[in-house]
Amino acid sequence: MNDIMLETQSLEAGYKGVKVLWGVNIKVHRGEIVSILGPNGAGKTTLIRTIMGIIKPYSGKVLFEGKDITNLDPYRRIKLGLYLVPDTRGLFPEMSVYENLLMGAYLVKNRSEVEKKLEEVYGLFPVLKERNKQKARTLSGGEQQMLAIAKVLMGSPRLLMLDEPTLGLSPKLSAEVTNTIKKLRDELGITILLVEEKVHYALKISDRVYVIDQGNIVYEADRTRFASAEEILRKYVGT
Ligand SMILES: Nc1ncnc2c1ncn2[C@@H]1O[C@H](COP(=O)(O)OP(=O)(O)OP(=O)(O)O)[C@@H](O)[C@H]1O
Ligand SMILES: [Mg+2]
Repeated sequence: MNDIMLETQSLEAGYKGVKVLWGVNIKVHRGEIVSILGPNGAGKTTLIRTIMGIIKPYSGKVLFEGKDITNLDPYRRIKLGLYLVPDTRGLFPEMSVYENLLMGAYLVKNRSEVEKKLEEVYGLFPVLKERNKQKARTLSGGEQQMLAIAKVLMGSPRLLMLDEPTLGLSPKLSAEVTNTIKKLRDELGITILLVEEKVHYALKISDRVYVIDQGNIVYEADRTRFASAEEILRKYVGT
């Protein structure tokens, strides 16, 4: 597979001059599910926020489909099809499920297109249809995560990054959300870059993983080497 969709080259970034990422090189091929795994504070969120353009890198590049997007603002990246479900989920808590979904469709100009997308996401997440008038803040953790994913699907993600989508969820709901992410790739053709702390769930659906520690990629593995990846993760994450 040579069709590289996303690539970072020697990416360095941090906060107020304090470096967090020390020259990160990752690649995501079209149609892959790739996970970034690593301990708390390793720089996972910083990495995907930098890829999204929320954090400006000190040096290095971000390429999307061969195009240098390092200096594009997040809005322009979204227009190219690069989306993020943040660890904070990005919902409007006082708005209803339906209103949140409409907010996700702000780039879609055509009303019938919005209707079509609504039907699509309601098909994928029937529970959201049942609860479409309910305020987002009153949904359960699992339902909120489903809504966060559904909201970005109202746009046109081609590569979707998710930051710890199973955070705070029970094992049952974590498994459900993980299966949903696989469906996004299998049925909708969306390429996935996943950040997870629950290594076990990530390994289940990933084609490839990177292990990050202290802002450095310390290991990269495809499925044939997941066993050794797990061993390394035990060392870094202690799981
Ligand atoms: N807004 C910020 N200002 C200053 N330092 C920050 C900020 N956000 C994160 N950091 C620091 O950057 C480092 C990497 O944090 P980051 O959130 O990227 O880690 P992470 O791998 O996502 O961790 P977790 O698994 O806990 O989410 C940490 O040392 C953290 O304290
Ligand atoms: Mg994080």
